[in-house]
Amino acid sequence: MCGIVAYIGKRQASPILLDGLRRLEYRGYDSAGIALWTDGGIDVYRKAGRIENLRKAVSEANPPGDLGISHTRWATHGAPTDENAHPHKDQSGNLALVHNGVIENYISIKDQLLAEGHTFQSETDTEVLAHLVGKCYDEGEETEPQAKLVAAVQAALPRVKGTFGIAVIHSDAPGVIVGSRLGSPLVVGLGKDEHFLASDVGAIVAHTRDVIYLNDYDLVTITRHGYDVSSLDTNRTASVKVSRVDFTEDDAEKGKFEHYMLKEIYEQPQSIRNALRGRLSRDEATAVLGGLNMSPMELRQIDRIIFSGCGTAYHAAMVGEYLMESLARIPTEIEFASEFRYRNVPTTKSTLQFVVSQSGETIDTLAALREAKRKGLRCLGIVNNVASTIARESDGGVYIHAGPEIGVAATKTFTSQVTIMTLLSLLFGRIHHLSSTDGLEMIDELEAIPEKIESILKQAPRIKEIAQKYANAEGMLFMGRQLNYPVAMEGALKMKEISYIYASGHPSAELKHGIIALVKPDLPSVFIAPDDAVFDKNVSNIEEVKARKGPVIAVTTEGCTDLERIADDVLYVPPCKSILSPLLTVVPLQLLSYYVALARGCDVDKPRNLAKSVTVE
Ligand code: M6R
Repeated sequence: MCGIVAYIGKRQASPILLDGLRRLEYRGYDSAGIALWTDGGIDVYRKAGRIENLRKAVSEANPPGDLGISHTRWATHGAPTDENAHPHKDQSGNLALVHNGVIENYISIKDQLLAEGHTFQSETDTEVLAHLVGKCYDEGEETEPQAKLVAAVQAALPRVKGTFGIAVIHSDAPGVIVGSRLGSPLVVGLGKDEHFLASDVGAIVAHTRDVIYLNDYDLVTITRHGYDVSSLDTNRTASVKVSRVDFTEDDAEKGKFEHYMLKEIYEQPQSIRNALRGRLSRDEATAVLGGLNMSPMELRQIDRIIFSGCGTAYHAAMVGEYLMESLARIPTEIEFASEFRYRNVPTTKSTLQFVVSQSGETIDTLAALREAKRKGLRCLGIVNNVASTIARESDGGVYIHAGPEIGVAATKTFTSQVTIMTLLSLLFGRIHHLSSTDGLEMIDELEAIPEKIESILKQAPRIKEIAQKYANAEGMLFMGRQLNYPVAMEGALKMKEISYIYASGHPSAELKHGIIALVKPDLPSVFIAPDDAVFDKNVSNIEEVKARKGPVIAVTTEGCTDLERIADDVLYVPPCKSILSPLLTVVPLQLLSYYVALARGCDVDKPRNLAKSVTVE
């Protein structure tokens, strides 16, 4: 949540910062601002609302300056106003700071500073941090300004409780930007005669692909010609590794698509191929997942599996539970990451925990990982962002290799996560009960999935028509059985978050236990009813809704025409092994929510109140 970009070099800083913020807008879009070092001191521009508002203000002024820090905000403390936008200055007005994260003890620090005569312009915790660093600077030993700024950051940060990724500049120190992190990502970009700081490489990949992912407690200084990484904690030595980013700026662009979400829905055939590449062994009829860092003997001893994640990742984990229990017969439990960390989930000596996260930065999922490790569990990640904190702190895992996902609504990462869950279940299945014939059949079926998704995508015009028909619905119900119950949950989440239509997902059989009371002519129900062992049961539930004049949209299997006579609208997915059906049935639901949101004039990629990665509790 929130995004930082900072630049020092020989080029005009403001266009670079604005472009970087545009690329980070998915992290928060309540307000934005930049601070630039100019001859007279530090100039700050801040605007509530989208980055476009800031861009207009800054472009008109066309400010000079080859050093600056910038920020796009997802409001935590204080409303999204100009005053609460970052950067914030200190009491002297000479220091400016941008911050991601939350300073939990800001009230007590603020009270102390107020008693010393400080005055504040905003309601934010960040302004308090700026004042604290400024005070440490003003009270610091007389030395040259660059060293003094570093010392001030080093003195201030141990006094705060909470999480931070920060970038700080001072008018006395025209040649340096100081940054640090604890719990919020920060990456250093290495260029020729220029350096960058950013919350995410996507913001700077247009300028450099050589980066250093900072660790918690790292303290960094960047100048035009170099960088230095040290540690906030004197008992710890910072380790520095330069990495090469494996995607280009084009991968993070919309290309020919109107929205990132649509682009990412269409990328699914490819992202699933990427998740499968090199991970299937026909000879052994199993999956090959070296990143687990576990021998077959160790894998065989696992007697219990826990998956945890949030939002879409949690829904993928729900599918994983069904897959693991059916293919491998290993007792599997799913937990919202936010609950796992506060529960005392019983575990065995051989329990294996997986944390599932696209960003690898979700605070609750990270906390679940740390809690699992504290309990001595082996904890593995199923992660997209290879440089993320979860990827680095877990004991191993499997990358989903879906490429950058920018749309706030997760789409391709759901199908990639489910693909990885299938590979894991195949691997565990082959260690236990699954025959090589069954293993090979799974491999064949998995490899056929991308092409089947391509054929579903061709139905987009029809899905758009259906979406327009239901765009004014006051609510929607999503229903499915077995593996398609999580798909119903996921379909409802997509509908809620981008179209603001209240939607809920349920096991179809639960209908009669209360939900049916909601059914009426302007409340459509979406049934995910592929031609599988529970198809007839779903048909009965659809009849029950129709008998009460509720409109029904059904998703079923090509060739199965039974629903044409009952449902109002029917969407088809190609036949597949029923255990893999979530990889297909979710796609029409993603498109349905996309086109409903479009018809309602919603901002599909940046839904209100949301941010792509949730890095605060
Ligand atoms: O980055 P993560 O996968 O950990 O994110 C988890 C959720 O915040 C995320 O899936 C969220 O629910 C999406 N907006 C859903 O579309």
